Amino acid sequence: MQLTTFIEAHTPAIEKEMVHLVENIVAPTILKDSMLYSLNAGGKRIRPLFVAAVCDYFQVDMAPAYTVGACVEMIHTYSLIHDDLPCMDDDALRRGKPTNHVVYGEALATLAGDALNTLSFGILARMPIAADTKIELINLLSIAAGAEGMVGGQVLDMDGEKRQLNLQELEQVHVNKTGALLRYSIESGAILARATAEERVALVDYAHHIGLAFQIQDDILDIEGTSEQLGKTAGKDIASEKSTYPALLTLDGAKEKLNEHFELAIAALQRLSKDTTLLHEFANYIVKRNK
Ligand code: IPE
Ligand code: IPE
Ligand code: MG
Ligand code: MG
Ligand code: MG
Repeated sequence: MQLTTFIEAHTPAIEKEMVHLVENIVAPTILKDSMLYSLNAGGKRIRPLFVAAVCDYFQVDMAPAYTVGACVEMIHTYSLIHDDLPCMDDDALRRGKPTNHVVYGEALATLAGDALNTLSFGILARMPIAADTKIELINLLSIAAGAEGMVGGQVLDMDGEKRQLNLQELEQVHVNKTGALLRYSIESGAILARATAEERVALVDYAHHIGLAFQIQDDILDIEGTSEQLGKTAGKDIASEKSTYPALLTLDGAKEKLNEHFELAIAALQRLSKDTTLLHEFANYIVKRNK
């Protein structure tokens, strides 16, 4: 399987880059420890691997992909630290370890998230690449991570605890809270590779369906998986009466939707002319993953 080889080949470089970037900042030791604790706790590294997979598709230099990927992973990790806080999902387990606030306390966990968030933008700004490319990367990341993306999605998600959202509303939650950063991971690869407008549109279309499929599978795993397997507390969504695809459509209905988005992601790849085997396998992995 091409994807397994790809993951094994690129994950160490992605993690090395990320840790190096954080270790090099001048900041209070306890803050750096807290940031590194969550970054080093594990995680599938799906977002940076997507940046790298798109750069591999275009056969361009991987070094910038690792840096952009590290930035997306920092934002993602910050979103998880905050998502787990007692004022949000109130979770004690993440990536198989006690959550950041359990170890470092709520105040430091909040600040570690803040620091990861802001650091990522500075790193993009300091990359040794063309200024117009950096500005585009920074601008799109601020949209994907912020009120019009992940943060906005988290707010809509909270609204779904008090009442069952309808399918359209639920899709909005998923498109924003999870989809936006995944879309960015794929689109940033296209930006680094200077893809044509047509290629970029096809990849963003692929990314849109990947993002939805990813969160639908997250909702399914919350029911079908165990805490041990997931490295986070299973059964959380039902316990907090969250609006999810399985809650609205039943487990089978959610699986059907998952498959629909997989098919649409694959259809988008057919509009690309180079070898899409890796991206195809990646889509397959997203819907079949068990953690
Ligand atoms: C979990 O993301 C949170 C969601 C956005 C659904 P991942 O499943 O990518 O978590 P890690 O990074 O592997 O821990
Ligand atoms: C979180 O969604 C998405 C984020 C923006 C962090 P969930 O709340 O479903 O993620 P898990 O299940 O805790 O990983
Ligand atoms: Mg949540
Ligand atoms: Mg959560
Ligand atoms: Mg979840």
